[in-house]
Amino acid sequence: MSHLQIVTTADGSNTIFNSEVGENYHSRHGALQESRHVFLESGLKYFLKVSPSGGDLEGAGAISILEVGFGTGLNFLLSAEYTIAQKIPLNYTGIEAYPLSPEMIAQTGYDQYIPKNLWQQFIKHYEEALQNPVQLDNCKLQIANCKLLDFSSSHKFDVIYFDAFAAIHQPEMWDDHAISHTLQFLKPGGVFVTYAITGNLKRIIKSLGLKVEKAPGAPGKREMLRAVKVE
Ligand SMILES: C[S@@+](CC[C@H](N)C(=O)[O-])C[C@H]1O[C@@H](n2cnc3c(N)ncnc32)[C@H](O)[C@@H]1O
Repeated sequence: MSHLQIVTTADGSNTIFNSEVGENYHSRHGALQESRHVFLESGLKYFLKVSPSGGDLEGAGAISILEVGFGTGLNFLLSAEYTIAQKIPLNYTGIEAYPLSPEMIAQTGYDQYIPKNLWQQFIKHYEEALQNPVQLDNCKLQIANCKLLDFSSSHKFDVIYFDAFAAIHQPEMWDDHAISHTLQFLKPGGVFVTYAITGNLKRIIKSLGLKVEKAPGAPGKREMLRAVKVE
């Protein structure tokens, strides 16, 4: 895919530049730092900290995450590493309209940030996860190969990672329709996080009845947005 190119970000970790969109998959200030800060720390770990009993964990104490824009899978890999270490079963659903090839994902070098066994299972089962749920250790992964607005599920999620390309490049991912479509999949008490914060986004999310807060941003960004669905 010639419009996709591996580039190195300020923390030394790689991302992918998509020349058709004119945008990187992660912050140029640091892909790994952004993923850890916005999604793992401010999303998943925050949810586990603030939720009664470490989250109203479903079934056998599992936590569920929905990601908009699965891309390279970096957010999944960091979340899976954490939940495996904590022995918390994870149900992870990614939505991805334009899946990367496993070869492209392998070029990111993200294997150096997670246990070897997790990486090997991920690369081996990635394409299958685009068709059916796959079990990687205690994580169930499914990637819905569709556009956000075509995604539907009877399931609701504890945490939503919203990782679309920036609004300047893909405004339709950030409008009222896209955000309310996404938030219908959040459980009461659930947490929505994204790396960006704008007045318009805050207004849309507040109008849907969620509690919105500014949280400290990843390096290179002052603030990010976190919202909690009031129970
Ligand atoms: C900022 S990148 C995501 C980065 C990703 N979370 C990662 O860690 O690699 C945005 C992603 O949204 C996907 N995308 C673009 N339009 C979409 C749509 N309408 N529905 C779902 N995904 C879309 C892109 O293909 C891209 O993978």
